[in-house]
Amino acid sequence: SRYHALVPAAGSGSRFGAPSPKQYLQLDGKPLMWHTLATLAAVPAIERVALVISPGDEWFDSYHWDDIAKLEVHRVGGASRAESVQNGLAALAAADDDWVLVHDAARCCLSVAAVERLIATLADDPVGGLLALPVADTVKRANAEQRVSATVPRERLWLAQTPQMFRAGCLTEALARGPVDVITDEASAIEQLGLQPRLVEGEAQNFKVTWPRDLALAKALLATRRG
Ligand code: CTP
Ligand code: MG
Repeated sequence: SRYHALVPAAGSGSRFGAPSPKQYLQLDGKPLMWHTLATLAAVPAIERVALVISPGDEWFDSYHWDDIAKLEVHRVGGASRAESVQNGLAALAAADDDWVLVHDAARCCLSVAAVERLIATLADDPVGGLLALPVADTVKRANAEQRVSATVPRERLWLAQTPQMFRAGCLTEALARGPVDVITDEASAIEQLGLQPRLVEGEAQNFKVTWPRDLALAKALLATRRG
């Protein structure tokens, strides 16, 4: 089979609250998502790295991307993440049984090893799956007054990450069933088809840069990687 990466990067970063979207913040002298794209391009099995940016994106052209192999840019971002992925899939026009690894641009500390673990685990899987982490802390359910109404057993609870890896045809069908404004990740759309995505152990460093406080951690992690 063939493997392609699809990177939604058409968000505005409203929670981060910077003047530019968070995927363009400077990190080690490069835009944040340069690191994301470079990691995906460094995975030998991945043939194409399709980036989805907003049609009105005014930042992309200000930076250099030529050193990222396999990169192709599609200005087809939508109003929601799921819509951006849906449009990106159409632009990718992959064969139905090609694997597509959808990965958030804002998860810039992903390691090549984690992607290779995902691919190796799912290569012969009938459904596909995602990187995720078992919940480590005790989980509380709150009532309306923010008091604990229950302790939720954490056994078998996982936190979803990306990449999420599914066959292009299956994912296209799943997203088409929508509604795209309630689909928060690819796996949840696949679940709506009655399928059960496989959970593959991710890594703590593969967090999503969401708030300003996340940037210092990303900087430190990328610095240790360079050695
Ligand atoms: N994304 C996208 N198209 C959208 C919304 C989000 O491609 N309409 C992308 C983001 O650029 C990001 C990934 O989906 O790489 C995960 O989304 P999130 O972390 O929520 O980023 P933003 O939506 O930009 O941030 P916020 O929700 O704080 O506004
Ligand atoms: Mg968002």
